[in-house]
Amino acid sequence: MTDKTEAEDAITNSASRSAPSRLRRPPGERLPGPKTNVCSRSYFVVVMVFFHVYIINVIVLLLYVHYSSGQEDSRPDSPRHAPSSDEQNQQAPRPPSKAPLPRHIFLPRIEGIRVGHVQKVSLVPGKVHEMRTLSLKPLLFEIPGFLSEDECRIVMQLAQLKGLMESQLMVQDGQEELAKELDLSPEEIFSLLDINQDGQLQLHEILTHSRVRDGIWLTPENLQEIYVGLNADKDGNGLLSLEEFRLLSVDAFQRFLLQRGVKRSQLVRNSQHTWLYQGKGAHQVLQDIKTRVTRLTRLPSTLVDLSEPLQVVRYEQGGHYHAHHDSGPFYPETACTHTRLAANASTPFETSCRYITVLFYLNSVDGGGETAFPVADNRTFDEVSLIQNDVDLMDTRRNCDKSNLRVKPTKGKAVFWYNYLSDGKGWVGEQDEYALHGGCVVTHGTKWVANKWINIDPDYQRQARFEQLVSHQSEDEDDEDLIMNSDAHQEL
Ligand code: OGA
Ligand code: CA
Ligand code: FE2
Repeated sequence: MTDKTEAEDAITNSASRSAPSRLRRPPGERLPGPKTNVCSRSYFVVVMVFFHVYIINVIVLLLYVHYSSGQEDSRPDSPRHAPSSDEQNQQAPRPPSKAPLPRHIFLPRIEGIRVGHVQKVSLVPGKVHEMRTLSLKPLLFEIPGFLSEDECRIVMQLAQLKGLMESQLMVQDGQEELAKELDLSPEEIFSLLDINQDGQLQLHEILTHSRVRDGIWLTPENLQEIYVGLNADKDGNGLLSLEEFRLLSVDAFQRFLLQRGVKRSQLVRNSQHTWLYQGKGAHQVLQDIKTRVTRLTRLPSTLVDLSEPLQVVRYEQGGHYHAHHDSGPFYPETACTHTRLAANASTPFETSCRYITVLFYLNSVDGGGETAFPVADNRTFDEVSLIQNDVDLMDTRRNCDKSNLRVKPTKGKAVFWYNYLSDGKGWVGEQDEYALHGGCVVTHGTKWVANKWINIDPDYQRQARFEQLVSHQSEDEDDEDLIMNSDAHQEL
């Protein structure tokens, strides 16, 4: 309370104390004698007038307080009356402006309570689903029977009709260019790789930073083969010294691997996929799934509508997807693929900004194919300790059994998790490192899954500007076309 308010209170209190005390005093007491009757009558009249004025004042004051607080309650941006997502969705679009847009959307986040906690959710009329918490780090849930058998079959058939393509091309470029652009000296690269700064490069130090080269997944054995093939480890102690490292050219490893030939099983990801649009005109099953995802996540439907289409993935026997994040870390210089339209300048980093992943199992797999979360609910997260004693927890062909959590693929089941933490103010915060996951190798049969990613820009202003732009453009264009044109479903 401020000084001024305290002072005002003191005045009000003394005023309200003085009136009743005057009333309590008997009128005859102060003016005794023969004039008492006349004087006491006029004194009584004066007192009564004051009394009435006082009462009227109090009533007027009470009425004023009542009406002014009623108005405050009905203000749409009052904190006591936060608008529901539906109300927000119905708000008329405003023209795009450069001024910061007011924050009035607070993203709901489903509470996990504790691992094993089951909550009932109503997603389709006349049916209740059970949603079980699988981990708190990341916040991860499973919902058995999310899709019906028919829905699973139709999604697989639609994907086949459209045609699936290899998820990863055999050779990818890019990392080499980045290294050249940065123009680092061999000494600088060596120092970056040498995590414990002992002047030697252990196998796990090289793998921590260079597991993936040209889309090829390196194992400790691969690396040892490369050492032998290139005669890199001259003293044969299994470590690379700075002198040994200097003799290797930057792309020596890649050239060696490419010359030797690469099998699909050596790639980061060995699967085929396609994209199915879920907007107006799409198969009813695809639209129904989108509506159900909106209900499940409790997010405003615009956010779900403007997200990537459904990705359908097929793993043949022997297929896998090594552990990864569906979306990258977010820095002030990071742009989101889906809001590129609304980005101001060229930004050095770009990521998909997939706030939530909803993963559907379209069939039950005969052997393997679990989704592994290697560090779910770990006490701490440390990138370096992902490889210990040459055991790489991110390698889903070999080490799924050492993952903290594995989800068995069962037809119709959905799992969903948050790839980002909350910023504590109702919006998207930092990347959740514990959301690391991958698809274990399929040992028997084929595995079919679908991904529904919900894209939200951690930069609220950019997300809001993007939505404004889309709502204007979609007056004559379909939202889905816009998403297609902006190629928001680009690979990570
Ligand atoms: C993915 C993914 C896991 C799985 O497609 O991004 O992580 O179990 N899939 O297939
Ligand atoms: Ca070292
Ligand atoms: Fe993934």
